[in-house]
Amino acid sequence: MIIEAQGIKKAYQHEDRLFMAVDDVSLSIGEGEFVCIEGRSGSGKSTLLNIMAGLLAPTAGSVAFEGREYGGMDDSGLSELRRTRLGYIMQGYGVLPNFTVLQNVLLPYVLSGRGGGLAESALAILEQAGIRQLAQRYPSGLSGGELRRVAIARALLMSPRLLIADEPTGDLDEETASGIMGLFAAAAKNGTAILMVTHDKDAAGYADRIHTMKAGRLVPDAGSGQA
Ligand SMILES: Nc1ncnc2c1ncn2[C@@H]1O[C@H](COP(=O)(O)OP(=O)(O)OP(=O)(O)O)[C@@H](O)[C@H]1O
Ligand SMILES: [Mg+2]
Repeated sequence: MIIEAQGIKKAYQHEDRLFMAVDDVSLSIGEGEFVCIEGRSGSGKSTLLNIMAGLLAPTAGSVAFEGREYGGMDDSGLSELRRTRLGYIMQGYGVLPNFTVLQNVLLPYVLSGRGGGLAESALAILEQAGIRQLAQRYPSGLSGGELRRVAIARALLMSPRLLIADEPTGDLDEETASGIMGLFAAAAKNGTAILMVTHDKDAAGYADRIHTMKAGRLVPDAGSGQA
C-alpha cells in the first residue's frame, strides 16, 4: 500500500458541542490506484485530504505513508515527503504571487536546492497542461483555471508516489478538464496512487473506485469507473 488510513476522526468544537468533521474513516490506496471521493459541501472531504497529506493531525486514528506513520515523523520529515513523494493540489491554488508560473512549478525543487536541470521537464508539463505560453507570467492576472493548472503542473512534476487533488477540474472547461484527467490517468499508469475529490462526473469516470462522503463517513459506491 502507498497510503493506509485507519479509523480517522477529526473533531471540532462548534459552540458548545463537539462536531465530527471526519468520523471513523479507513482508506487504503495501492500503487497506481485511482480513488475518487464525492460528497456534499461540508461532508468532510477536504478535512480528510488534509489529514491524508499529513498537514492536519487527526483527533483519532493513524495514517501510514509507505508503511511509515505520520505520527512518528517530525516536521522536516513530513516536509521532505511532501516535496518529493506526495503531491497535493489543494482546493485553493497554493500559488505564490512573487514567483513566475515556471518558478511556481519548480518551487519544491527550488526550496530544496535541487532545481537545476528541471526547467525543461517543467516546461514540458506546462505544455501538456496547455499553459506553456504563461511560463514567464506572474500569477496576478491569470484566470482561476490557469492558476489551477499551475498547481497541477507543480504536483505532477515530481512524479509523486501519491497525488492528492481537491476538485482539480472545478474551474476548468470540459476540454481542458479531460486533458488534465488524461495526465492523471497517465500518472496512475506509471504507478502514482491518486486520491481525488470531485463533483465532476466525467472526472470521476477515470477512477478505479468511487466513495461518497456523508457527514464525515465514507461509504463505498456501487458504481466504479469506466477506465
Ligand atoms: N478548522 C475548522 N474549525 C471548525 N470547523 C471546521 C474546520 N475545518 C472544517 N470545519 C468544518 O468541518 C466540516 C467539513 O469541512 P470540509 O472543508 O472538510 O468540507 P468539504 O466536504 O471539503 O466541503 P466542500 O465541498 O464545500 O469543499 C464543515 O462543516 C466545516 O465547517
Ligand atoms: Mg472541500
